[in-house]
Amino acid sequence: MTHFDLRAAINAISDVTQNRPQPLREFDQIYMKVADMVLQAEFLARKFDGLDVAFIGDGDSISLSALHLRAMGVIDCGPKSIQVLDFDERIVNSIIRFSEKYGFSDRITARLYNVADPLPQEVLHTQDAFYTNPPWGASNEGESVFIFIERGFEAVKKNALGMLVIADAPDIPWTQSVLLRSQRLANDHGFLVAEMLPEQHLYHLDDAPNLKSCSCVFRRMEPKIWSESSIPVDKDRFANFYGRNSPLKIHYVRARSTLNYGKAEDHTYSLEQWEG
Ligand SMILES: C[S@@+](CC[C@H](N)C(=O)[O-])C[C@H]1O[C@@H](n2cnc3c(N)ncnc32)[C@H](O)[C@@H]1O
Repeated sequence: MTHFDLRAAINAISDVTQNRPQPLREFDQIYMKVADMVLQAEFLARKFDGLDVAFIGDGDSISLSALHLRAMGVIDCGPKSIQVLDFDERIVNSIIRFSEKYGFSDRITARLYNVADPLPQEVLHTQDAFYTNPPWGASNEGESVFIFIERGFEAVKKNALGMLVIADAPDIPWTQSVLLRSQRLANDHGFLVAEMLPEQHLYHLDDAPNLKSCSCVFRRMEPKIWSESSIPVDKDRFANFYGRNSPLKIHYVRARSTLNYGKAEDHTYSLEQWEG
């Protein structure tokens, strides 16, 4: 790990978290804690230095964190370009707004996309690396993880890298079984596990505050499975996607415009003046 100015790093990530929409728990939007975001963004910036990177979902805003840490002079490496694909328009808009404000919209784009849909042709096999922190698949034996990483495999070129962030707790059997099956799937697609940072990150997760995730870095050795076009996900795979009895059935989360973005929403408080 490289050394950096802790105050400058946390202030930069604070800019990023201030910009994020409130997470929707029903879609597994559960944000990573700030110190772990600093370390994760620095790790990604170092591993994917100079690369074109596709993010399959990015509620945490690790994409913006990596670019902003660099723009603020905290680190001196980072991706050449980033494309974020997410089904939540609030997240897409927040990425566009932030990158315009801080002057790096030439390095990051964000678009509305649901993993159940075919990957856009203009993204297919164009990227040097993918990153994903998907729903962790506790209730569907990892199926939601597999759908996200399969899109990652499709997004990248032949000699590519990938980074998967999923639950990792040696004493919780489902996390180990999903991790094992995810690594097997990556092997089947010609990727090896190049690096693994176990039990790294904590989340704002009320019902499991100590559940950590790992970073698993993949490197493609051979394009064993290589599709020239992308197809929709079979609906049989939608059950329990976001948890027990919570299937994948929403296409997009749409943003409702609000005048005071990044500040308290005006329906959450009222103002009372002195009488008389
Ligand atoms: C599911 S969350 C996983 C937890 C992660 N810590 C977070 O909150 O971002 C990851 C991202 O996937 C996005 N996402 C969820 N379902 C999706 C879908 N069907 N297609 C595309 N993106 C999706 C969410 O909007 C979020 O930004």
